[in-house]
Amino acid sequence: MMAARGFGRVITICLCVAVCVEGYRSRSTSLTDSLNILSKNTGNINNSGIVNSGFNELDFRFGQNEDDKTNDEPEDKANATGPKQAAEAKLTFPGNCQPSRTKLRDGSACSGQTLFEDNFDSLNESVWQIEQYIPNTHPEHPFVSYQHLTTGQTISTAGGILQITPKLQQDLPGFTNDTITSGTLNLNSGCTSTESRCEMTVDGADILPPVASGRITSKTFAFKYGKVYVRAKLPQGDWLYPEILLEPFLKKYGSPHYSSGVIKIATARGNRQLYYGQDDYSNKLLYGGPIMDLDCRETLLSGKLRSDGSAWGDNFHVYSLEWTPEHIVLAVDDEVWGRVKPRRSGLQAKFPSHCKRLPRSRLRAGSRMAPFDDHFYLTLGVAAGGITEFPDDSITSNNKRKPWRDGSRKAMLKFWRGTNSWLSTWKLPRLEIDYVKVVAL
Ligand SMILES: *[C@@H]1O[C@H](CO)[C@@H](O)[C@H](O)[C@H]1NC(C)=O
Ligand SMILES: *[C@@H]1O[C@H](CO)[C@@H](O)[C@H](O)[C@H]1NC(C)=O
Ligand SMILES: *[C@@H]1O[C@H](CO)[C@@H](O)[C@H](O)[C@H]1NC(C)=O
Ligand SMILES: *[C@@H]1O[C@H](CO)[C@@H](O)[C@H](O)[C@H]1NC(C)=O
Repeated sequence: MMAARGFGRVITICLCVAVCVEGYRSRSTSLTDSLNILSKNTGNINNSGIVNSGFNELDFRFGQNEDDKTNDEPEDKANATGPKQAAEAKLTFPGNCQPSRTKLRDGSACSGQTLFEDNFDSLNESVWQIEQYIPNTHPEHPFVSYQHLTTGQTISTAGGILQITPKLQQDLPGFTNDTITSGTLNLNSGCTSTESRCEMTVDGADILPPVASGRITSKTFAFKYGKVYVRAKLPQGDWLYPEILLEPFLKKYGSPHYSSGVIKIATARGNRQLYYGQDDYSNKLLYGGPIMDLDCRETLLSGKLRSDGSAWGDNFHVYSLEWTPEHIVLAVDDEVWGRVKPRRSGLQAKFPSHCKRLPRSRLRAGSRMAPFDDHFYLTLGVAAGGITEFPDDSITSNNKRKPWRDGSRKAMLKFWRGTNSWLSTWKLPRLEIDYVKVVAL
């Protein structure tokens, strides 16, 4: 089960925006342009949750719109005659609405339209599912449980900021230092997964997850292709990492080992200092990108190391993703730092033959972007430890070695036994999110 290796060496890629813009279709806007458009448009957008796309079939009919009548009358008469033309007419939206390559599970999108936005004035549970389960089948095996707590909250909003704060399980009501190695964790009340992921009893080295954390998902809103903007302050504290993800809605290519793909929009290890050999793996290194295979999870990932001495979690930054049928581009504060393009025979062709867990034949039946050619939803959370993010033998502050080994059955136990070495570094352990928005291509 715990066979994964540590995340390998990341390559620092730092492309300028011009390189990215070059490949865009003429109609598309650059990330800079879209940010400008967004800042102009926010007045029309609801504070919380899904922005009503506002366009249904009736709106698209010729002659229903006043502007249309005055501007396009000759063309209307010439073209909107037969049934075929009428169908096409629905796609030439009146007003400023251009059809978009972004697809929604429900409704349709206009080019450049904000489809989803949350400024987190409150946490709207009609939009976000607050997850509650033990991620014991998650490929990263983080040493956490996700809990929807009513007191001692791991998830809250304050001053328009969403905060996800990891806590020690032993500090929650009903738990002590001893219960982590001898007790039971029952999350059935409010469980958002299967029963086997919501209840566990300690069995030898299989202790209770030492960290209680939070995770929310936008399962009411799933989309295919688009631009995502997340203004966030990443958590700091040894062995923590944020989850700012797109996850597959239907898992069309299967569920185990990332078969249907995950996109990490941005992550950085919480350690103020962390070296793997000569390489800086600390909070100064931003990394992310698409993941399709557990053994070869770094194949498509990119990284960007800060060189000014500060760390990503020191300040808020706007992390963004542009996901199209041709590419995946990652940017921070408008600067592109990661870019993935499929080969002619697809993204899967970029993986060497030893990456055996890829469902290659199923992926070949999809588009070149498969598995990233279906609807995905947003996930925000905080994880700790796990068996994929922190390379074995990496060295953190005060020359301390990572306290567990990824392949070991005692990984979580060793992490917990090391609590005294890392807890004091959890000075800013929470993920803070100012806003999230999704804009149509
Ligand atoms: C904003 O929300 C209100 C109340 O939920 C709704 O009536 C309105 O249509 C929404 N506006 C937009 C632009 O989605
Ligand atoms: C109407 O038809 C003309 C000629 O076929 C074409 O150039 C024009 O783009 C069409 N207009 C619309 C709105 O479809
Ligand atoms: C929560 O979201 C739902 C669905 O978008 C919306 O109808 C409702 O008005 C929102 N509530 C608040 C308090 O914003
Ligand atoms: C649990 O208790 C033991 C013995 O009292 C102590 O050595 C250890 O540091 C404690 N562990 C945690 C995580 O508090």
